[in-house]
Order: sequence, then C-alpha cells, then structure tokens
Amino acid sequence: MAEWLENAVFYEIYPQSFQDTNGDGIGDFQGIVERLDYIAGLGCTGIWLNPCFQSPFGDAGYDVSDYYRAAPRYGTNEDLKRLFEEAHKRGIRVLLDLVPGHTSTEHKWFRESMRAEKNPYTDLYIWTDDVWESPEGMGCIRGISDRNGSCVVNFFSHQPALNYGYYERNRPWQQSPEDEGPLRTLEEMKKVMRFWLKMGCDGFRVDMAGSLVKNDPDGKGTIALWKKVRSFLDLEFPEAVLISEWGEPDKSLEGGFHMDFLLHFGPSHYNDLFRCEEPFFSGRGKGDVSAFVKKYVENYEKTGSKGLICIPSGNHDMDRLARRLKGDELKIAFVFLLSMPGAPFIYYGDEIGMRYVEGLNSVEGGFHRTGSRSPMQWDRTVNAGFSAAPQEDLYIAMDPDQDRPDVQSQIEQEDSLYSEVRRLIALRRSTPALQSKGGIEFVYAKEGEYPLAYIRRSDTESLLVIINPAARETSFESGHELKETVYSFGAECVSRSGVILVPASSAGIYRIKE
Ligand code: NOJ
Repeated sequence: MAEWLENAVFYEIYPQSFQDTNGDGIGDFQGIVERLDYIAGLGCTGIWLNPCFQSPFGDAGYDVSDYYRAAPRYGTNEDLKRLFEEAHKRGIRVLLDLVPGHTSTEHKWFRESMRAEKNPYTDLYIWTDDVWESPEGMGCIRGISDRNGSCVVNFFSHQPALNYGYYERNRPWQQSPEDEGPLRTLEEMKKVMRFWLKMGCDGFRVDMAGSLVKNDPDGKGTIALWKKVRSFLDLEFPEAVLISEWGEPDKSLEGGFHMDFLLHFGPSHYNDLFRCEEPFFSGRGKGDVSAFVKKYVENYEKTGSKGLICIPSGNHDMDRLARRLKGDELKIAFVFLLSMPGAPFIYYGDEIGMRYVEGLNSVEGGFHRTGSRSPMQWDRTVNAGFSAAPQEDLYIAMDPDQDRPDVQSQIEQEDSLYSEVRRLIALRRSTPALQSKGGIEFVYAKEGEYPLAYIRRSDTESLLVIINPAARETSFESGHELKETVYSFGAECVSRSGVILVPASSAGIYRIKE
C-alpha cells in the first residue's frame, strides 16, 4: 500500500458546489485550486473528487459520456492536470471517481452498441437477445433503437450497464467474464485509468465496485476482475490507490483494493450512529451503538484485522451529518470519525457543520440527495463566497439560514467545530496508534448503553478512546488505568478502582498501560 495512504485524511469535493471562479454559478477546477491551501490547512492529505468528466449530468456526472474529457463546465483536461500538480505541491493526493459499471446513454460506445449491425461495441454492454425479454430483476432500456434486445441498466434508466459478464449464467445472452465482449470492456476501463494516472492523478474511488460481474452471489467473479486490474496497476502504476464503494472489505481487499467504504445502506448499521430517529451520537442518549460494533468487528476479523474500512462523515448520497446532530454532538462524532481505523473521509462542509437544505427541488438526479449538495459556505459575503453569480443562477440554492455556518467565522473561533476537527486531524496524523493500520479492540459497546470505548494500538502505545455523546454522566468497568490525557473534549474521565467515570457530553483519548 502506498505509504502516504496509511496516514491519509481525505476531503471529498463535489466539484459543482465547492468554489465558482468564473461567475456561472457552478464550481470549477480553478476554484478547487484556489482552495487547496484551505484543505491543506485543515490537515487533509487527500482529495476524492466526484466525477468531473463530460456528461449530460442526469446523475450529477455518474453518467459519463466521455471518460477522456473533463466536463467543460469545470475546465479543460489541462486545468485538471494543473489541479493535480498544485495539489501535489501541497502534499495532497487526488483520487478521481471512476464509474466503471455504466455510462450515460449518450456515450458513443452505447450509441454504437444500440445499432442492429454487429460492431466492436455490440457486446460492451449487457443486452438480452430479444427485445421482448427483459433481464430478470433488473431495469432495462428497450425499444429505443433497431437492435433486437433489451439493455440492462445499472442505476437510473439512462445508465446502461457495461458488460463484465455473468458469473452464473442461465440465459444464452449472458456472457462469461472471459468472453470477448467482457474482456474488451475491461481493457477499455484500464485505458481510462492509464490515461488519468499518466496525467497525474493518484488513484480512484471506484463507484459500485462490487457490482461489475452480474449473478455473482459470493463476489468471486468481481474479485477476479479487480485482481486483474490490480496486476495491471502493479506493473504500470504501482503507487496507484484504489478505494472501493463496495461495503464488503473482505471481498474488496482480496480484489486488490487498499480500502473499502463503510456504506450507509445494507447491513453496516452506519445510520444507527448518525442518521436515524435516535442516533447514538445524539445528546438524548437513546441510541444504540452495539449492532454497528458487532458488524464492524465481523468485517474487521474477516479482513485479518486489517481494519481498512473507511468511515465517511457523510457524502453526496446521504443526509448531512448536521441534519440530526448539532453543536457538541458534531464535535463528539468527529472524535469517533477521526480515531477509527481506515482513512477518514470528510465530506466538504461537514467540518463546519453545514446543514442539509430542506425542501429543494431535485437538481441533476439528486432527488433527496440535493439538500446535501448545496454550495460551500466560505464566508459572510454574497453567496457565502461561493460564487459571484446572481443568487438565482446558483447550481443549487444556498442554505438560506441567516446563521448558516461558514469557514471564515469558524477559523477565527478556537471553540468552533472547524477548530476541533483541525486539532483532531493533527492529533491523528502525529499519533501512529490512531492511524489507519493501528489495531482496534472494543472495550465497551453495550446495547442501548453509553459510553462507547475502544483501544487503539500501535507497536509502542495503547490509547483508550472513551466517547459519551449522552448529556448525562455514565460509568463503565474497565481493567485499565488512565495514565495520561492525550485529548479531551468536555470534562475528563476519572478512573477509580477499575471503574471509569465518564462526564456528560464528553470524548477523550487516554494513554493506558497494558
Ligand atoms: C453511487 C454514487 O455515489 C451515486 O451518487 C450514484 O448515483 C450511483 N453510484 C450511480 O453511479
């Protein structure tokens, strides 16, 4: 694994909404370049940039129509290259968002694939062999060209599925991953990766990485496919980083990914922590962290205690962290996020507690996600410093609240969320036990109870993290004595003959002797 990744803290940028420099109401590459010092100042060492390629933007860019061309609304390929260079000058690596599972229906590959006559693109997508047969359990596109078949869709109905084959095949049109069409698709995707890695990007966050080979219940076909990709990268770009949107780290790591995301859907119980009726991190203290921990430990063990599961503060697909959590709750949540194994990912604006903007109309396939994609709030000037465009021309409306948080004000306040996050990142980066590869052992995570306590370990030290979001004091039995406070938010814990007293709304990291 690239050495920098072990100690990386990522910042996710949704380019549409980060910084507009040409007054058209939408963010651009130049805007990101101008804000790199801010990202470095926060302490982040990596960027995950959401798709920035040519697209009709029916799904915010996850519907690519040309993998080789930056979306003109953000700038040119040259501008993107300059962004890589400027980021590197500041010690920041850039991961692009690779969308290998589907394209836009406007992609020239798909236009060719729609033709009735056989051509090199015919099998690049998954088609049934009769327009009257739709693929079982999946959406499809049909009747829009003379090709006699239905094309499988991967997500929205304008996103046809690229063909990597079927692991289990029960229809004649289902191809093996080793057939010519699927192999060709994989070659095309490798070319895309090669193109951007040569241009200077540092790797990829891979969209829906676990779903490429179809009818693949144990992921065997998809794992085999990613192994091929990793071998290609090891030969040509050994430093290139791959992080998967998969949610099953035992499979993704076997396939050669360096890290995998904890997903907010499926069995992870991520939402129990931040995004349910009674989240664990709410001061009401009615949450439950135990199911999350149980699942986490299961995955941790399955990966041979590698623990390379990235827990994001949020992302462009889920509600903002600040939709349910407020004030100190957010600070305590960040103590957790920044002290767990796997690289932390901070969604732009979460570090200042940007809110979910309620009641917005969907923009570019966002639907309920649109409220989490509003423009970054930099300062208290017009449009919060995001853009010089008239307010009504902004890509997505700003948070209309008079008291909306902003970077400028929070940088000036020692006790702001921004300042807390910055301190925590600095602590993580200078403390090996808190970094991605350090071990973790849960000490206290009982059903319906507080606090949450876990030990993080490096070769040389052990740190006990004690997190109590509840607005009431609590205690737990522990064989550990707290030797030294490494970090604390709120009052500090006290250990008394094997019992640790934990103050209300507090989070602390303590050195212990084992
Ligand atoms: C996951 C992405 O994060 C999401 O935004 C997108 O809509 C789907 N994949 C489809 O690509």
